[in-house]
Amino acid sequence: MKGTFITIEGTDGTGKSTQIALLAEFLRQKGLPVVLTREPGGTPIGEKIRQILLDVENGDMTPSTEALLYAASRAQHVSQTIRPALEAGAVVICDRFYDSSVVYQAYGRGLGEAMVQSINQWALDGLEPDCTLLFTLPPKKALDRASKDHTPDRLEQEGLSFQETVYEAYQALAKAAPNRVVAVDASQSVEEVAKDVQQAVWSRLKR
Ligand code: TYD
Repeated sequence: MKGTFITIEGTDGTGKSTQIALLAEFLRQKGLPVVLTREPGGTPIGEKIRQILLDVENGDMTPSTEALLYAASRAQHVSQTIRPALEAGAVVICDRFYDSSVVYQAYGRGLGEAMVQSINQWALDGLEPDCTLLFTLPPKKALDRASKDHTPDRLEQEGLSFQETVYEAYQALAKAAPNRVVAVDASQSVEEVAKDVQQAVWSRLKR
């Protein structure tokens, strides 16, 4: 694949959106073709699945339905958006990807990694990020930030202990895949975080 696949991860409220926009602008200024996308979503079908997943009225959704819907959105996303863009040589920046399913569904919901891995094998079709930026911020701080920003969605309503489980799972993931996952301290200023992000990505671009 000619392009570079970058995924962005972290608990809710770590400032990912701001940093993704800044990173895209930085890379475009360097003359690189950038495709910005997100999960769940990133395709017309995926965006419809997203609405179902984040709808606070769907409080009775079972953990396995939830995991399957995230994987369904991902299957469409990989084949319709991400893979074609990478084949065309773009830098694809994706707001959340498979790691989110590992931390939120396998650990947050307790489905276990084997189950989540097996349904996602199908969705991923062998695709792996070249680099994953993990924004880290203590869950209490992150949740306060998120609630100032917008009304909490279905996952954010799960509260602090759920976010703590997710946070721990992210830390474990960073340890397990040190070559791919770069932890970024999200408690720094916007400018400092942006600098760390640019450095990490620049050294990993396929050129
Ligand atoms: P979003 O509004 O994009 O949250 P954020 O701005 O924090 O990224 O909502 C996505 C939510 O879906 C978020 O709470 C994490 C969750 N999620 C999963 O549980 N599993 C997944 O596989 C993905 C991609 C997201």
